[in-house]
Amino acid sequence: MIEAENAPPPAGAVAEATAICARHGNDPAALLEILHDLQEETGFVPEATLPAIASALNLSRAEVHGVVSFYHDYRRAPAGPVVVKLCRAEACQSMGALALIETVCAARGIKLGGTSEDGVTIEPVYCLGNCALAPAAMVNGRLVGRADAARLDTAVREARS
Ligand code: FES
Repeated sequence: MIEAENAPPPAGAVAEATAICARHGNDPAALLEILHDLQEETGFVPEATLPAIASALNLSRAEVHGVVSFYHDYRRAPAGPVVVKLCRAEACQSMGALALIETVCAARGIKLGGTSEDGVTIEPVYCLGNCALAPAAMVNGRLVGRADAARLDTAVREARS
């Protein structure tokens, strides 16, 4: 499993972060968009880029760090080739989503948000708009309704093929 704090930044990530800030006029109000763009470019928001972003936007490192930590959509480490998003919003919770998340993470030996040795990233998501088929999941962009461990294993195998 790749721990967020150990994830090395891709080459040029700090310069890229600085350039993205400049594209947004170094406007602190654009922080969420800047982080989104950076994640689009590098696949995640590397810890090493946070001081450069803070400096460009004239914010404290703690402010930038707080925003990155607060929003689950920002990855702190690179994702694996297969990304499983498990919904933990209300409708899915009422259909056993939290137990499913525990089971799936334990089976792969990772925490939620982590990536297993075989390249499966498991991330939380808050409503996939598929509440009628709760618990809902998404595997590499494909919706899986009435998800259970077996259906998710099948979807992961299919995503790899
Ligand atoms: S609450 Fe899970 S898909 Fe809507």
